[in-house]
Amino acid sequence: MRGGIVWLTGLSGAGKSTLATAVARELATRRPVELLDGDDIRTFLSAGLSFSRPDRDTNVQRIAYVARLLAKHGVLVFVAAISPYRETRDAVRALSEAAGHPFIEVYVNAPLETVVARDVKGLYKKAHAGEISSFTGVSDPYEPPLHPEVEVRTDMSSQADCVSRIVAIMAAHALVHGL
Ligand code: ADX
Repeated sequence: MRGGIVWLTGLSGAGKSTLATAVARELATRRPVELLDGDDIRTFLSAGLSFSRPDRDTNVQRIAYVARLLAKHGVLVFVAAISPYRETRDAVRALSEAAGHPFIEVYVNAPLETVVARDVKGLYKKAHAGEISSFTGVSDPYEPPLHPEVEVRTDMSSQADCVSRIVAIMAAHALVHGL
């Protein structure tokens, strides 16, 4: 079966990693899957990069490069990264599609108030206190996708609903069969 890239974008704490992990787990018995998670990537592949626009773009381009390499070998690649800039997401989509890999953009949407209230990592508190600068949604931009293949609202829908909507759109793009 051909590879593909499922790119989850959204604010920190919106639920990108949780959903990507859940969908990947559901499909892992059927075909090879891999998850490229922003936090892990920044520990290894992108260690030393800042959260300036050029560094975020470099991070996103590196992730997309690895995703294409994996997709070339039939892997279903899930990416969970804030990837805040529309132009950059569109650029990596174009590169993926030019290489023949379907690219599914998933907008993992939760309002800022919700992610601030969740504050799983305690980073919004630090950002509001000015201890972290250029924090997405607080002191740095997030540009929502205009035409994502699918948008899930993690503040309004259950995890199971979000997972099944993502799996459904993947099936519609022939990335999963027989569900
Ligand atoms: S991206 O903008 O380059 O796509 P990425 O997804 O890799 O971001 O990393 C985001 C994670 O880095 C957040 O979930 C959070 O844990 C951490 N982080 C640390 N500083 C910042 C910041 N200034 N803005 C956003 N996230 C930050």
